[in-house]
Amino acid sequence: MGSDSRVTFARWSQHFVKNSIGAMLPLRALFQALRWRALICWLCIALSSGIPAVAESHGDTTGKSWHAPKSCIFIRNPVPATRASISKGEQIYKARCIGCHGSSGHGDGPDASQLRVHPARLSGERVQEQTDGLLWWKITFGKRPMPGYGFRLSSTDRWHVINYLRTLAENKPQR
Ligand code: HEC
Repeated sequence: MGSDSRVTFARWSQHFVKNSIGAMLPLRALFQALRWRALICWLCIALSSGIPAVAESHGDTTGKSWHAPKSCIFIRNPVPATRASISKGEQIYKARCIGCHGSSGHGDGPDASQLRVHPARLSGERVQEQTDGLLWWKITFGKRPMPGYGFRLSSTDRWHVINYLRTLAENKPQR
């Protein structure tokens, strides 16, 4: 009787181990499948938001519209528009942007006439009403013929330039 029950216990525990491992296998497969699915889902999100926008910023030369990912609206400018920042931005603008965009940001720099696409009027409302985050994204990636400055200027320098661009506004926004 006693030995019987021990045998049953041994059998039961064997059974238990076999079953639980057996049960764990499909569970692991399920987790893996879910992980893959999460990865694919993440890839889809990345593809549908960032990557086409990046590709578009280089590929679309028609100059009609320049789409940036909507999430850029929420990127906050981490550099306060102090006098030092604005004058740093001015230096960068005069070295890098003035040729196309002109000294007052009217899009009338000396190189502008050689471009197929007219440089944007940075002083105008259409540009000025965009958020810093959006402008930062556009300056980072560029759009032909405008070069991207992601590798040419540090992130902080791009924010300095934006702080300077705000001083070029024809109609100073009431913020
Ligand atoms: C080679 C000429 C060139 C240079 C240099 C250049 N840009 Fe541009 N930029 C353009 C052109 C052309 C466009 C218009 C592109 C379009 O809309 O297709 C433009 C557009 C823009 C826009 C427009 C955005 C919009 O919403 O339409 C911003 C902001 C801008 N430039 C900022 C800068 C800054 C800042 C620099 C210097 C760091 C700079 N650009 C240097 C040619 C240039």
